[in-house]
Amino acid sequence: MYKELLKLYSELRNAANNAGYTTPLVCGEGALNPMLMLIGEAPGANEEAQRKPFVGKAGQNLNELLEGVNISREEAFVSNLVKIRPSAISAKGNVINRTPNPAEKAFFEPYLMREIELVNPKIIVTLGNTPLGVFSSNTIGSVHGRMFESKGYKVFPLYHPASIIYKRELLDVYKSDLKTLALIVAKLENK
Ligand code: URA
Repeated sequence: MYKELLKLYSELRNAANNAGYTTPLVCGEGALNPMLMLIGEAPGANEEAQRKPFVGKAGQNLNELLEGVNISREEAFVSNLVKIRPSAISAKGNVINRTPNPAEKAFFEPYLMREIELVNPKIIVTLGNTPLGVFSSNTIGSVHGRMFESKGYKVFPLYHPASIIYKRELLDVYKSDLKTLALIVAKLENK
């Protein structure tokens, strides 16, 4: 399956170039057939520079998240819906991150679905609203911390790990959702 995943990424590289998305691709990484596949929104500057998902501050939070459920990052698979860095130029002339637009989300979604099929996780953990939108029309505030089934997968929505950096009041909610996820993981592991 790993070979097929590399083939998929190479196909995506060509299609992205043809669609005008010519900046570096940040592909998923981690174990195949994992308990958890974590799906973020899109890479930021650090991720683009290192060509790896979740290596910045949000990545640090993500690692803590995984520690909380006793899963090392190597045992999970980590990826993003959009696999290029969506960027804009700030008023000061700096390149800044922005939320992916509908065209970017629509372009990358079919590749994400094929990636998920090849990775074959037991549970998909969506991080924030952007990847949640692939599986549900609800927003994170109303569905976080509760598993549901969609498109043949078990999906567990969490807030984006970056959101607790700027919204400290979410920390308790986030920790409680993680406890729920840890219980679900423990149950599945004992089966
Ligand atoms: N935020 C994301 O959604 N993905 C990353 O890879 C990094 C930050």
